[in-house]
Amino acid sequence: MINKIDFNNKKILITGGAGFIGSNLAFYFQKNFTKSKVIVFDCFRNDETFHNGNLKSFGHYKNLIGFKGDIICGNINDKDDLALLDKYNFDFIFHHAAISDTRVYDQEIIMKTNVNSFYDLLAIAKKNKSVMVYASSAASYGNLPSPQTVGKERPENPYGYSKYIMDQVANSYSIENPDLTIVGLRFFNVYGPGEYYKANTSSMVNQLGHQILDGKAPRLFNNSKQIFRDFIYIDDVIQANIKACNPKKNGSYNVATGIPRNFQEIADILQKELGTNLGTEYFINPYNGYQMDTQADISNTQKNLDFEPRFSLEEGIKSYIPEILRIHGDDIS
Ligand SMILES: NC(=O)c1ccc[n+]([C@@H]2O[C@H](COP(=O)([O-])OP(=O)(O)OC[C@H]3O[C@@H](n4cnc5c(N)ncnc54)[C@H](O)[C@@H]3O)[C@@H](O)[C@H]2O)c1
Repeated sequence: MINKIDFNNKKILITGGAGFIGSNLAFYFQKNFTKSKVIVFDCFRNDETFHNGNLKSFGHYKNLIGFKGDIICGNINDKDDLALLDKYNFDFIFHHAAISDTRVYDQEIIMKTNVNSFYDLLAIAKKNKSVMVYASSAASYGNLPSPQTVGKERPENPYGYSKYIMDQVANSYSIENPDLTIVGLRFFNVYGPGEYYKANTSSMVNQLGHQILDGKAPRLFNNSKQIFRDFIYIDDVIQANIKACNPKKNGSYNVATGIPRNFQEIADILQKELGTNLGTEYFINPYNGYQMDTQADISNTQKNLDFEPRFSLEEGIKSYIPEILRIHGDDIS
C-alpha cells in the first residue's frame, strides 16, 4: 500500500479516466481497494481534430476494458454533463481531464477546457468537501533553466499557461477555503502502459519502442545525447496522486525523478531490452526554442507529500516492455 489512506467505501471521481494517467488510477483503486466506488468522467474521443491534425481528446475505451466502476461520458466544458455528477457525494476528486496536447495553439479552447472547467470542478469539491488532486504540468516552466522549481514559471505555450493559471486558481481557492485539500501535481515526462492511444503525443519511450518493433532504427533529433528530460514512470505518478491526498501543505508539486536522462539513452535501453541492434537515425530538430534540459526540483514533493520516485529509467522501461510488445500494431484510432 502506498500510504495509510483507506479508500474502501469512498467515492472517487476521476476526470479524464479514459486517458493515460486517469485509467491507471482507476485500475489502481479497483485492484487495491475493492470496496471503493470509482466514477470515471471523460468525453472519450470522436473524429474531430485540432489544426495540428491530432485528435481533440485522447480517451479510449480500450484503456478501460476490465474496469468495473461507473463511467460517464461527458464534457467538462458542458454544465449539463457536469450536472450528471450531482447525485454522487465524492470523497476524492482526481481531475485529469484536459487538452493534454502541448502543441495545440488555439488559446480560447485550451483556456476554456483547462481553466474554466477547473472552477466548476473546484465548486463540486467544495460542495462535497472532497479532496481535490489535479494535474498541473512541467510545461508551466517553459524553457527556464534546470532545476525547475515551483515559484519560478514562464510558460511558452497556451497549454503550459493554462496549467500555470490552474495552479494560481488553486492557490486562491486554498486561501479562501482553508479546510479544503487541494494539490496540483506538475508531471514531467510520464511514460508507461496506457499511453499508446495518445499517438504522437505519447512519450518518446512509447514512440521509439514501436519504431524498433517495426524493425526501424529509432529516429532521434541530432545531438540527442544533449537533450535531457526528467522522465517519470506511471507507477510513480500513481504514487504521487495517492500521496497528494494527504499533504502536509496544499500547493503545486513537481512529480519527477529529479534525474535528467537523454533521448539517446531511451533508444539504447529499449534496444537492449528488445534485443535489437538497429542503430539510430538522426534528423534535424524542426522546433525553434526547443527545451534542451528538464530536471525537477522534487525536494518539496518529498517533504510535503512524502513522495519518493522508485523507478529509474532502466527499471521503468523494463517493466513497460511487456505492454509495448502486447499492444504493438493495435489500431490506434
Ligand atoms: N502524460 C504526461 O506526460 C503529462 C505531463 C504533464 C501533465 N499531464 C497532465 O495530466 C493529465 C492526464 O494526462 P494524460 O497523459 O493521461 O493525457 P490523456 O490525454 O491521455 O488524458 C486526458 C483525458 O481527458 C479527456 N478529456 C479531454 N478533454 C476533455 C473534456 N473537454 N471533457 C472531458 N474529458 C476530456 C481525454 O479524453 C483523455 O481521456 C492531463 O491533465 C495532462 O495535461 C500529463
